[in-house]
Amino acid sequence: MQMFKEQIAQRLAPLVDWEPERVAAALEIPPDAKLGDLAFPCFQLAPKLRKAPPAIATDLANRLEVPAVVAKVEVVGGYLNFFLHPHALAQQVLEAVLEAGDGYGNAQLGAGKTIVIDFSSPNIAKPFGVGHMPTTVLGNSISKLYKALGYNVVRVNHLGDWGTQFGAMIVAYLRWGENDPLTEDPIGKLYRLYVKFHQEEEKEPSLRDEARAWFSRLEAGDPEARKLWQLFYDVSLKNFKRTYDRLGIDFDYYTGESFYVDKIDAALERVKAAGITEVSDGALVVPLGDDLPPCLLQKSDGATLYATRDLAALFYREETFKPERIIYVVALDQSLHFKQLKLVLEKMGLPLADALVHVPFGLVKLPEGKMSTRRGQMVLLDDVLQEATSRVREIIAEKNPELPQREQVAEEVGIGAVIFHNLKNSRMRDIIFDWNEVLNFDGETGPYLQYTHVRCMSVLRKAGRQELALPQDLSGITDEVAQQVLKRLSQFPEIIVKAAESYEPSTMSRYLLDLAQDFNRFYNTCRIIGEVEAVETSRLALVKAVAQVLRRGLDLLGLKAPEQM
Ligand code: ARG
Repeated sequence: MQMFKEQIAQRLAPLVDWEPERVAAALEIPPDAKLGDLAFPCFQLAPKLRKAPPAIATDLANRLEVPAVVAKVEVVGGYLNFFLHPHALAQQVLEAVLEAGDGYGNAQLGAGKTIVIDFSSPNIAKPFGVGHMPTTVLGNSISKLYKALGYNVVRVNHLGDWGTQFGAMIVAYLRWGENDPLTEDPIGKLYRLYVKFHQEEEKEPSLRDEARAWFSRLEAGDPEARKLWQLFYDVSLKNFKRTYDRLGIDFDYYTGESFYVDKIDAALERVKAAGITEVSDGALVVPLGDDLPPCLLQKSDGATLYATRDLAALFYREETFKPERIIYVVALDQSLHFKQLKLVLEKMGLPLADALVHVPFGLVKLPEGKMSTRRGQMVLLDDVLQEATSRVREIIAEKNPELPQREQVAEEVGIGAVIFHNLKNSRMRDIIFDWNEVLNFDGETGPYLQYTHVRCMSVLRKAGRQELALPQDLSGITDEVAQQVLKRLSQFPEIIVKAAESYEPSTMSRYLLDLAQDFNRFYNTCRIIGEVEAVETSRLALVKAVAQVLRRGLDLLGLKAPEQM
C-alpha cells in the first residue's frame, strides 16, 4: 500500500501542512473494505485547526485534487476514506511486483549501516537441542529481513565454548571416556559423559573441585586441558555445521566465548578504569543498584564468567564492525543477563548501551514438558528434522509417488514445516510441538504455503506462456477477489519493515498465510486458463506475482519453495 499512500500523501500534504512522509504514515487501512482502501484520520489536526474532525474531513474532501489512482473519496466521521481505482490498482501493483522481481520489497533504509546479530549459539560438547531452535530460525529470518532493508548484516554464532562446564567435561572424559577419539557419535558420547558427571557429583562432591581446577588449567593455557577442549570443540562444531547445512543457515563468524579469552584482561581494565567496579568477597563485581543483582565479572579464583566474555565481545564487536545495533536473539530466561550488561555499559557512559538489543522468545515444549540437559531428557534438533523429513517422505510416497526429486522435496518440505512452526506465532509465545499441527498441509503451516506456491507454478506451467506482458485490458482482475490479492501484494514491502523493526518474523508468516488464503479464494472462484486472452493474461500475471511474493516471503523466513510437491 505504500505506493498508494505516497501518491495520496503528495496531494494531501500541502493541504494539512505536514510533510508527505507524515501523511503517508498516518494513512491507515480501514478494518472493513466497505470503508475504502485507505483512510486518513483527521483527529490529530483538530486542536490546531480548532475544528471538529468531521468538518476537517469534509473540507479536505472538497479541496483535494485526488491522484489518478483514487476513484472516490468519502467522508465518514472524522475520516477521509479513499477508494482506489481497480484498474489502476491492478496495473500499478503488478508492474511494481513483476518489474522488481525478487527485489520487490527491498529497501535502502539501512544503507551504510551495520547490524550485528548474535543468534543460535549452541553450547559445545552438548547436543543441539530443540531449545536452540527458535533462536536459530528467528535469528536467520531477522538477518534476512534486515538485509532486505539494505543493512549490512553480520551474522555471529557466539558458541558456548568456554566456562566451568568444560572443567566438568574434562574430568568426565578422563574418568569414563576411555580415550575415545570421538569419531563416532561424538555428541551422544559427550552428552552421556556430561549427564554422568552430574549424576556422580551428587554422590562425590569433590568432583566439582576437580572440575574447577581443570577449568583453571584451561584458562591458564595448560596444553593437556587445551588439547581435550579442542577435541570437544572440533567434533561438536562439525556436527553443528551439518545441522546448519540442513537448515540452510550460515554464519559470517563462529566466534564463540573462547574467542574472547585473550581480550578479557583489556575488557576488565576498561570496566575498572570507569570506576564502577567493587571487590566483594574476593570477586570483582559491578554493583547495579537495588533493583538488579550485581554483575559478576571475575570470581575470587580469577575465573571469568559468561558476562565477562560477553562484555569483551561487545567491545570487540563495536570496534570491529561499528554497528548501529547488536541484536541478541536469546531465550527469555537470559533477560537479566542482558539487562545487567546494558546497565554496565550505561554506567560506563558508553553509547554502546543503546546499541544492545535483546530479542527474547518463549520456550519449546514437547508433549513431555520442558527439557533439561542435565537430566538427560533432551530432544535433539537433528532428531526432529529427521522425523519431519521422514514423515513427509511417507506422505509423498502415498500421495504423489511419481514426484520428481522426491528426496529433495521431502527435505525442503519437512524442514520447512519445522522452521515455519517456530515462526508462525509471536516469538514470546511458547512453541508446542504437535506433529499433526506441524505437518498439516491444509492448516496454517509451512507446507500449506509451499503448496500454494506449487499451485501457482503449476498453473503457469500448464498455461505454457513464457512471456507475460501486462495487457492494456485488466478487467480480468478488477473483481473483488482479485483486488483483495492485489492489495495484499501491495503490502509486502511494509510487512518487511514491520517484521524487521519489531524483530517479529511472525508478522511475515501471518502475512503469507493471508496472501495464500486470498490467492486460494481467487483460484477457486476465477477461471484462469481458457478465458479470453486479456482475461487469461492478466490472471496469469497475478498468479506469477503471487508465486514470486510467496517465494520471496518464504525465503525471508528461511524456507525453500519447491516447484512441485
Ligand atoms: N550459549 C548460550 C546458550 O546456549 C547463548 C549465547 C547467546 N549469546 C551471547 N552473546 N550471550 O544459552
